[in-house]
Amino acid sequence: MQLVAFDRRRGKERIREMNLKYKFPAKFWWGAATSGPQSEGRFYKKNDNVFDYWYDTEPQDFFNRVGPNVASNFYNSYKEDISMMKQIGLNSVRTSIQWTRLIKDFETAEVDEDAVCFYNKVIDEFLKQGILPVMNLHHFDLPVELYKKYGGWESKKVVDMFVLFAKKCFELFGDRVKHWVTFNEPMVIVEGEYLYQFHYPKLVDGKKAVQVLYNLNLASAKVIEVFHKSVCAQNGGEIGIVLNLTPSYPRSQEEKDVKAANFVEDFFNRSFLDTAVKGKFTESLVETLKKDNVLWESTDEELKTIHDNTVDFLGVNYYQPRRAKAKEEPFDESKGWMPDKYFDDYKLPGCRMNPYRGWEIYPQAIYDIAINIRDNYNNISWYLSENGMGVEGEEKYIKEDGSIDDQYRIDFYEEHLSWLHKAIEEGSNCFGFHAWTPIDCWSWSNAYKNRYGYIAVDLATQIKTIKKSGYWIKKVAAQNGF
Ligand code: BG6
Repeated sequence: MQLVAFDRRRGKERIREMNLKYKFPAKFWWGAATSGPQSEGRFYKKNDNVFDYWYDTEPQDFFNRVGPNVASNFYNSYKEDISMMKQIGLNSVRTSIQWTRLIKDFETAEVDEDAVCFYNKVIDEFLKQGILPVMNLHHFDLPVELYKKYGGWESKKVVDMFVLFAKKCFELFGDRVKHWVTFNEPMVIVEGEYLYQFHYPKLVDGKKAVQVLYNLNLASAKVIEVFHKSVCAQNGGEIGIVLNLTPSYPRSQEEKDVKAANFVEDFFNRSFLDTAVKGKFTESLVETLKKDNVLWESTDEELKTIHDNTVDFLGVNYYQPRRAKAKEEPFDESKGWMPDKYFDDYKLPGCRMNPYRGWEIYPQAIYDIAINIRDNYNNISWYLSENGMGVEGEEKYIKEDGSIDDQYRIDFYEEHLSWLHKAIEEGSNCFGFHAWTPIDCWSWSNAYKNRYGYIAVDLATQIKTIKKSGYWIKKVAAQNGF
């Protein structure tokens, strides 16, 4: 009897699979991404990161004055949360190990035993639920102590302390975690902290920004070197980096616009992509920075480390495209060098927008990214490590049964996935799709303004409810397509 029922079910599944418009490769990752500082809450954390400190000193900078103290309470509810992730069919999830939680003393990398116990329980729970844990080592969460003492990522001493932290992570958790990430969106550290003032310490200093950009590349390569020499790699583990590759489209095909967009590519994308995959900085970028007298300080030995230690795989976060045009007014360099010397941002008239986040919606960019990786980056294996639609005031879409009808998010994902599918059909080596984010989480100074999750969080009660998109991804993951 049971066998008949099983066969009927499989039969139906097969028919559904045959009817799929978009079928993805076998073993495709259908998952989602979050991070430690955005989900755990500060419970029992021995050290503060730059965001903890910023919130404690300037809470008015955070949307509705909501800080990282509770976030989505993952520290206390990780079991229930992971079980909900399982319930919506995710087969892989990225989160991060917090430097400020795991390490008590940054100089010696002495660990906090409570934190070791916590991360062990989290990893074991993911594995027990059949979810592949992908562990990231840095998601903007620099220990504030290291900023105050050494200038944070401006300092190569901090680079070496980060390597010590990473080594500890590999030793402690590398027996079970097989997929590691050195950094999430390192360019955002450069932009937010040193150029455009949206992350603490909110500086505007192009020269420092360039050194930080270099140091982050060095840190990633040094961590990869340690990883590749460790037993984790010998046991089949892999390490990558997650980059926010925002393609830059020129306003027009006029030479001056194309040149402007090309500089944006050089500075904001290739400065991490070329080093991560090819082990070297883009020549045109180096030339420009040299000419402007702002090139980073480097040694031959460091450049060799960057050259010899490239990633095993790439994660690409994509939310919005970037558009550039030639400068309309000459750049005023009296306040110092900025990459903006070479371009102006361009807003395409009439483009589709996500009004809550103020970001353009342009799904086709996924295809362009994928083909660029295929043709110019050795067709390295990669996955779409974040993609998402942040919406403010989602409560207005609550149905009678208490769940949120976020059909707009489903449409957004299907459109992006259709372009990804096309690129895979054309040979791009993409092995997965992670949405931002499994459960609504705290998002830096935007706090809980825009919700992204498959699962909603009621901030007052911390009650979590699966949205319509959560049921959608469950089906997509089960069918391996839609
Ligand atoms: C990504 C980051 O770029 O964007 C996440 O990796 C962040 O950490 C997400 O939360 C959404 O950002 P925002 O500002 O729209 O809430």
